[in-house]
Amino acid sequence: MTELVHMDKAHLYYDTGISLRDLSLSIGQDEFVYLFGPSGSGKTSLLGLMYMELVPNTGTVTVLGYDTNRLKRKEVARQRKRIGRMFQDPRLLNDRDIYHNLALPLEISGFSGKDARHRVFQKADELSIRSRLNHFPYELSGGEKQRVALAMASIISPELMLVDEPTAQLDEESSRIIIDTLWKIQEAGTSVVFATHKEEVIQIDPARTITLNKGEIIQDKPR
Ligand SMILES: Nc1ncnc2c1ncn2[C@@H]1O[C@H](COP(=O)(O)OP(=O)(O)OP(=O)(O)O)[C@@H](O)[C@H]1O
Ligand SMILES: [Mg+2]
Repeated sequence: MTELVHMDKAHLYYDTGISLRDLSLSIGQDEFVYLFGPSGSGKTSLLGLMYMELVPNTGTVTVLGYDTNRLKRKEVARQRKRIGRMFQDPRLLNDRDIYHNLALPLEISGFSGKDARHRVFQKADELSIRSRLNHFPYELSGGEKQRVALAMASIISPELMLVDEPTAQLDEESSRIIIDTLWKIQEAGTSVVFATHKEEVIQIDPARTITLNKGEIIQDKPR
């Protein structure tokens, strides 16, 4: 099995103190993994290590085969194109319409012309936002914005999707669309790492669950 993420005794300190302690874990291809734990347990910090925004102070974090402590900035940017990232608050580009929000990650990855247009429409249909393509982000509801954010994060078919509490502010129906789509993305061959503090989310769609408490992994339970 190819490993997408491997951590070996990784520690992460902030100025304020230790955030992650002695993390060892491995995430392979085609996995759906929950990061579960209360507020402050380290879920976002752990996603930050996987997105190479943070590097461990001691121990190693290997992402897509690269030791993140040795990666040069330029190489980080290159490898990040293989990773989709979703935040709790949808981060869209407010100066352009939804079509061009979706087209941007494609442009950065070298897609253009017909191929890019086709992917934008396909993603928009998948997430039921086709009628919003000519609108600007401020014209969208919170649920629609989060669907656009998911479309942007997944439009280049990343190998790894890192998702941080994307449904915290959404109603049940919008949450369902996001979660169902993430499962479809996983079935199509992307590994999904999904941080949540909600036990209900895991009960409805069980999967491997890594439980954090005070910056430590206290359980890593297969589905
Ligand atoms: N930039 C930072 N500087 C200093 N301390 C930080 C920083 N980011 C997080 N921390 C601390 O690290 C610990 C883990 O925070 P983290 O945001 O990873 O938790 P979380 O599980 O994502 O919480 P939540 O569910 O509230 O989002 C907390 O004690 C937090 O205060
Ligand atoms: Mg968090």
